[in-house]
Amino acid sequence: MTQPNARTPSVPIITIDGPSGTGKGTIASLLAAHLGWACLDSGALYRVLGLAAERAGLDLEDGEALGRLAADLDLAFLDGRVLLAGEDVSAAIRTEAAGNAASQVAAHPQVRAALLDWQRAAARLPGLVADGRDMGTVVFPDAEVKIFLTASPEERGKRRYRQLRDQGVEVNLKQLVGDIAARDERDSQRAVAPLRPALDALVVDTTTLNIDQVLERVLNLVRQIVEERQGTQGADSTP
Ligand code: C5P
Repeated sequence: MTQPNARTPSVPIITIDGPSGTGKGTIASLLAAHLGWACLDSGALYRVLGLAAERAGLDLEDGEALGRLAADLDLAFLDGRVLLAGEDVSAAIRTEAAGNAASQVAAHPQVRAALLDWQRAAARLPGLVADGRDMGTVVFPDAEVKIFLTASPEERGKRRYRQLRDQGVEVNLKQLVGDIAARDERDSQRAVAPLRPALDALVVDTTTLNIDQVLERVLNLVRQIVEERQGTQGADSTP
C-alpha cells in the first residue's frame, strides 16, 4: 500500500468511535467540514480489505494471508471516492456483505498492525477527525478529544434499514438487526483493539437525537475541552 509519511506529532486530533448505526461517519465528516480538517473513515480500510480478500478468494480466517494483503493493498481516497487498484469501489464497500467481511478481517492482529501506520499517517494540519472503533484507544491514544457515540440496537437497526431502503435496497429489518448485533458482538469481543470507549472518552447516547442535535452536542464538547485546555495552557485554537 502506498503510505504517506509518519504522523506529524503536533496535529490536533478528534476521535469518534462507536458501533455501527450511531451516525459516526456522518458526524465525523460534518465535524471535519465545519473545522476545515481532514477526515479519516477507518472502516473504509477494513471494508476495502474485505472486498479485496473475497475477490482474491482468501479465507477470511487466514490472518497471515490477510495481513500480507493489507500490507500490499493498492488503496487511495480521492475526492470522496475509494479506489482499489484504480477501480472506484465506493459503492461496493457499502453493502451489508462488505460490512460483515470487514468485521471478519478486522479481527486479525496481522491486519490491524498492517493498517496502523497508514491510519496514523492520515493526520495532517490543521487537524484530523478520525472515525472507527479503536481511534481513541489504539490508533490515536493521545488525541485531544475522544467521543464515543452509542444508540440502542433497535434504533441503530432502524437507521440502517431506512438508509438502505432510501438507496433502493430491499432488506429485512429483523435480519438487519441480527446482523448488526452479530457484528457488534464480534467487534467488541475480539482480542485485539476491541470496540470500547477509551477511558478518557466522552460518551454521547444518540438514541433520541437527530444528526443536527448530535453534531451540536459534539461541537459543544469539543469547544468545552478546547476552552478548558486554553485555560490551563493559554493556547489559541477555538473550533
Ligand atoms: O465503520 P464501518 O461500519 O465502516 O466498519 C466496518 C467494520 O470494520 C466494523 O464492523 C469493524 O469490524 C471494522 N472496523 C474496525 N476498526 C475500525 C473501523 C472499522 O475494526 N477502526
